[in-house]
Amino acid sequence: MEVQYSLYRVCPTPSVSLIRFPNHSFLSKLPSPCYSRSFVQTHHSTLHSVCFRKNITCRKNGQMIVNASLEGEVSRTVIRKKKLAVFVSGGGSNFRSINEASLEGSIHGEIVVVVTNKSGCGGAEYARSKSIPVILFPKTKDEPHGLSASDLVATLGSFEIDFVLLAGYLKLIPPELIQAYSKSIVNIHPSLLPAFGGKGYYGMKVHKAVIDSGARFSGATIHLVDEHFDTGRILAQRVVPVLANDSAEDLAARILKEEHRLYVEVVAALCDERIIWRADGVPLIQSKENPNELY
Ligand code: GRF
Repeated sequence: MEVQYSLYRVCPTPSVSLIRFPNHSFLSKLPSPCYSRSFVQTHHSTLHSVCFRKNITCRKNGQMIVNASLEGEVSRTVIRKKKLAVFVSGGGSNFRSINEASLEGSIHGEIVVVVTNKSGCGGAEYARSKSIPVILFPKTKDEPHGLSASDLVATLGSFEIDFVLLAGYLKLIPPELIQAYSKSIVNIHPSLLPAFGGKGYYGMKVHKAVIDSGARFSGATIHLVDEHFDTGRILAQRVVPVLANDSAEDLAARILKEEHRLYVEVVAALCDERIIWRADGVPLIQSKENPNELY
């Protein structure tokens, strides 16, 4: 098969080049100068075992147009669109921003179900307005139609959920769910964990405690979920300044804006399979633009 592609940037080390295939927007890393038996990676798909026979013509501005012959097997593994469950107890602004990002395509995933402990909360109402099914968990005297933990696991299984996203869900997650979705449940917390986290630190209480402490910086943390409140491995953080005359509400509003951006970035990384596990178990995110960069 004859292909033409552009060599956009030759890295200082001549062994690595970034190549974009015009028709597919493929970003690839190919060993230079041999261009043979290469590995081509994209955000949502991967090509393996591409064999190149190169024939390079230099063009202006250091950009090169490459005419090459593809030989051998080209196998394509498409990354499947992920199915997401979002858990909410309140207004659901994080849920909305994730849903909007998935509808406009910056997240390669789809919210297929919402779980709440409060059937009348803003998040649940928004879900219904978008025709996203809402299920109740847990069963309480206020919510007698709530599911048991094992029914919740079975129901999420029937939706073929890949990731559970906690977005202002105030109940502890049952061990059954944590076992069923190992390393696949994340939560957002409105402080820089491990500071100002744990039982009792929720809503305005977090921000009041930060202001009372005199801390000059707070922020948002996304972490994996374990059996305790706010103790799972940190996946991403964003720092937000605490200003001299901030009320808890001012600080909450400033952090919430960052939360929306951070959660969308993290969910995009989860759905693109860009989480890399460090040897000690800390999850790192592989940059979308530069796969060599982890943060
Ligand atoms: C956010 O501040 C989040 O960090 C915390 O609960 C709040 C939820 O807000 N866990 P919203 O319901 O997404 O607007």
